[in-house]
Amino acid sequence: MSATAFCSRSDLFNAGEAAAYDCVSAAMPARYHRAHQVQNAALLANMHAAYEPALLEIGPGTCKDLSDLRTVFSSRSFQWTGIERSQSMIDAAMASQRIPNNAETQLILADAFEDEAWSQLHRMDFDACFSAFVLHHYSEEARLWIHRRAIERLRVGGIYIVTDLFASGDIADKSHGKEAQDVGAAVLKAKLLAHVDRERLRAAWVQHYLHENQPPVLEHEVESLYKLGCSVRVAMRSIQVAVVIATKDS
Ligand SMILES: C[S@@+](CC[C@H](N)C(=O)[O-])C[C@H]1O[C@@H](n2cnc3c(N)ncnc32)[C@H](O)[C@@H]1O
Repeated sequence: MSATAFCSRSDLFNAGEAAAYDCVSAAMPARYHRAHQVQNAALLANMHAAYEPALLEIGPGTCKDLSDLRTVFSSRSFQWTGIERSQSMIDAAMASQRIPNNAETQLILADAFEDEAWSQLHRMDFDACFSAFVLHHYSEEARLWIHRRAIERLRVGGIYIVTDLFASGDIADKSHGKEAQDVGAAVLKAKLLAHVDRERLRAAWVQHYLHENQPPVLEHEVESLYKLGCSVRVAMRSIQVAVVIATKDS
């Protein structure tokens, strides 16, 4: 599959804005942070089932989740592989020393819509695969493509977690407006903290969030994952943010 077939609606973090990313993320509404916690708790619970668990992350960005998992899971080793297409995000992760230099850690600098990214993976049986706030910019068809790929690479009983922004049929318009307001507030807070060029940050962030289209509909996502042979549960839902956990059944 070629990356151009599934073009992201926004390429913000390839544009050298990674330095601003952690600053703005920290100022996001509490439900964003809660979603990361719920996702990581589910990963940790699942990791206890394996000897040296292997995780695959799509779009780790500045690798905050990896860093949090290492802190919480400090007593045991685990393997982590990330597929990230933005050099600037990786540079920021490296600068904050969130990517350990060891044999258990593999970073693939590539687009997750390129077959080449998946051919570099060293195993077919990951215990878990996850992505946080990566896929909402992509079409339903594109998301399905990634879901299928991720689930193929899981062992039976492994989990696939999608932590992301979602609409639901009936509240889509309103919640999208609310989301834009919240992001506006986050931008303001970030500007207070900012050590980056304020106008650039504002332009990039607004461009990132005010997509032309609605985020994906949660119910469709659950159904897609179910059709791919998984048991599915929604572990958290708050306004637009949700954590969807699919377990590979066969
Ligand atoms: C909003 S950031 C989220 C970063 C991190 N997961 C977090 O929650 O802090 C989205 C990340 O996904 C990456 N990304 C988006 N599309 C991608 C793709 N097709 N392949 C690989 N990485 C992608 C972006 O470069 C960016 O680093």
